[in-house]
Amino acid sequence: MSWILELAGVSLSYADGRARRRVLAGVDLSLSAGEVVALRGPSGSGKTTLLNLAAGLVLPDAGSVRLNTAGGVRTVSGEDEAGRAACRRDHMGYVFQFFNLVPTLTVRENVLLPLELAGREALAERALARLETLGLGDRGDDFPERLSGGERQRVAIARALAHEPALVLADEPTGNLDAANAANVAGLLWQEVRRLGGALLVATHDEAIAARADRVVDLSGGAADGVADRAAGG
Ligand SMILES: Nc1ncnc2c1ncn2[C@@H]1O[C@H](COP(=O)(O)OP(=O)(O)OP(=O)(O)O)[C@@H](O)[C@H]1O
Ligand SMILES: [Mg+2]
Repeated sequence: MSWILELAGVSLSYADGRARRRVLAGVDLSLSAGEVVALRGPSGSGKTTLLNLAAGLVLPDAGSVRLNTAGGVRTVSGEDEAGRAACRRDHMGYVFQFFNLVPTLTVRENVLLPLELAGREALAERALARLETLGLGDRGDDFPERLSGGERQRVAIARALAHEPALVLADEPTGNLDAANAANVAGLLWQEVRRLGGALLVATHDEAIAARADRVVDLSGGAADGVADRAAGG
């Protein structure tokens, strides 16, 4: 099976006063087409950091991040800022932990923004239909500040899927949702990843999400020892 995302020997530490705090060390992780991998680990274990590395928002101190899509193989970590932005625009959708909706755009405009950036306006109808699926069909004209946390989270999910990216990165995408909405979101994410033949890397504390993943990668117990990769639920 072809791969979509590959992290090889990825290490990252942050400056911490005069010292450096190591967050990830020698992480190897590969996602195949159609695969869903759940990232678990306690707060501060590096889940968001790993997603940011995959997205090219943060560069590793060592190792590489590569992306394999219809556009060919790109070494995300070797691209300059414009190149990394282009990788995200064309091939990645990112559901941020704190949503990062554009406050001056309506819900509908937020969802359509990735299509404008990628020049893929033909996907608009399907993108807006996801708002319906997520129970927000009547909120298109609202600005983000008028939405609840869970509503914003669902807009962020619709936005991440809008341009139908090969790689979806989702940071605790059900963290603000009740069980019914969480199940609905998971259903949509899984369905789209399979339909697009893409891959989903999802950081989550939600047992139901982890149980549905093809694989669980656990960052607890010190990423300094590398990623302990283990099968989900046997
Ligand atoms: N920009 C930054 N500068 C310095 N340290 C950072 C930065 N971003 C993250 N860290 C540190 O890296 C570690 C991992 O953070 P990260 O946000 O990846 O954790 P997480 O697993 O996503 O946690 P949570 O479950 O709380 O979201 C933390 O100790 C954090 O303080
Ligand atoms: Mg996080």
